[in-house]
Amino acid sequence: MTLQPRRRVSLAVFLSLLLQAGISSGIKWLALSKTPSALALNQTQHCKQLEGLVASQVQLCRSNLELMHTVVQAAREVVKTCRKTFSDMRWNCSSIERAPNYLLDLERGTRESAFVYALSAAAISHTIARACTTGDLPGCSCGPVPGESPGPGYRWGGCADNLYYGLLMGSKFSDAPMKVKKSGGQTNKLMHLHNSEVGRQALKASLEMKCKCHGVSGSCSIRTCWRGLQELRDIALDLKTRYLSATKVVHRPMGTHKHLVPKDIDVRPVRDTELIYLQSSPDFCMKNEKVGSHGTQDRQCNKTSNGSDSCDLMCCGRGYNPYMDKVVERCHCKYHWCCYVTCKKCERVVERYVCK
Ligand SMILES: *[C@@H]1O[C@H](CO)[C@@H](O)[C@H](O)[C@H]1NC(C)=O
Ligand SMILES: *[C@@H]1O[C@H](CO)[C@@H](O)[C@H](O)[C@H]1NC(C)=O
Ligand SMILES: *[C@@H]1O[C@H](CO)[C@@H](O)[C@H](O)[C@H]1NC(C)=O
Ligand SMILES: *[C@@H]1O[C@H](CO)[C@@H](O)[C@H](O)[C@H]1NC(C)=O
Repeated sequence: MTLQPRRRVSLAVFLSLLLQAGISSGIKWLALSKTPSALALNQTQHCKQLEGLVASQVQLCRSNLELMHTVVQAAREVVKTCRKTFSDMRWNCSSIERAPNYLLDLERGTRESAFVYALSAAAISHTIARACTTGDLPGCSCGPVPGESPGPGYRWGGCADNLYYGLLMGSKFSDAPMKVKKSGGQTNKLMHLHNSEVGRQALKASLEMKCKCHGVSGSCSIRTCWRGLQELRDIALDLKTRYLSATKVVHRPMGTHKHLVPKDIDVRPVRDTELIYLQSSPDFCMKNEKVGSHGTQDRQCNKTSNGSDSCDLMCCGRGYNPYMDKVVERCHCKYHWCCYVTCKKCERVVERYVCK
């Protein structure tokens, strides 16, 4: 009984120290995902009403108001894409919805936060680059036409995604918290900036040639091509692979600068393509709020899969309980001339499993 209050105080002090250090202020802007769509964003005083921005981001909001709808949209994309990309994992990114008040899984310099920083940096530049293409932004339009020819039978046309402008404005906004001089640990900021750069590098790597066919009755004798970015969910899958092989680093003083080097094999520098983290994560099997683990009890698992969503891995060997679930499907569909389809609704019972 006598220990309990004291432990609570020390945890609170610990948390407030973390918050003061601003360790994860770099992704607090994801709270923009909760911005009501009815909120007008056409006057500089609206910037103060946005949740999760640091002072320099509020300043960027004031001077780039026309960009803010796109930034809000990017925050929504990050939340949606992170959850989808990790839906088959023990850590399923559900805690991202708590922005700007994260739990320890995203407050500390973990592998998970490395992924979220990288995805956030990629997403904001992706969304801006696309908004240029669709004409939603006054400050930019289509990306440049490449100098070299696309090859015989192909010609440049259409509207390229404006990757340059996306990277320029996106990094200005999403890196702003890490560029604040006084606040936060230098080591954490270095790590966050590195992981953000990895995200942008994955975005750049996703630029590809996209083409459309022309010619007499779809003969495809001429193709019009442009440079387009892959979808964010594909970039997120690329980053998930890097998450799985992320490198633990430590900081080493190098003259007056601090430097991050791989912990186990520090004979080589950190690569530009790898995600890095400072704190090991728990296995996320059991609930433990002190380390930001929700546990996997009651999570759905897949009995026939042998991936990370298999009952074996998801439930950490604790076993699982079956339950019956009803699924409603369209069935007995009939085509009517001309031109519609009618279907009936059929119910089917399927067995599903949740972790013990
Ligand atoms: C700002 O947007 C709101 C709602 O979209 C509109 O009613 C208002 O007239 C706009 N104000 C300015 C200054 O454009
Ligand atoms: C994600 O994990 C949390 C915590 O275990 C759980 O409550 C939630 O239902 C999960 N979400 C999905 C979509 O599986
Ligand atoms: C379970 O995994 C198998 C194999 O990966 C897959 O074919 C199936 O669709 C999955 N079932 C569910 C309910 O996700
Ligand atoms: C399951 O594991 C086997 C062998 O370990 C492998 O060949 C197969 O591709 C895996 N299937 C899936 C869906 O991952």
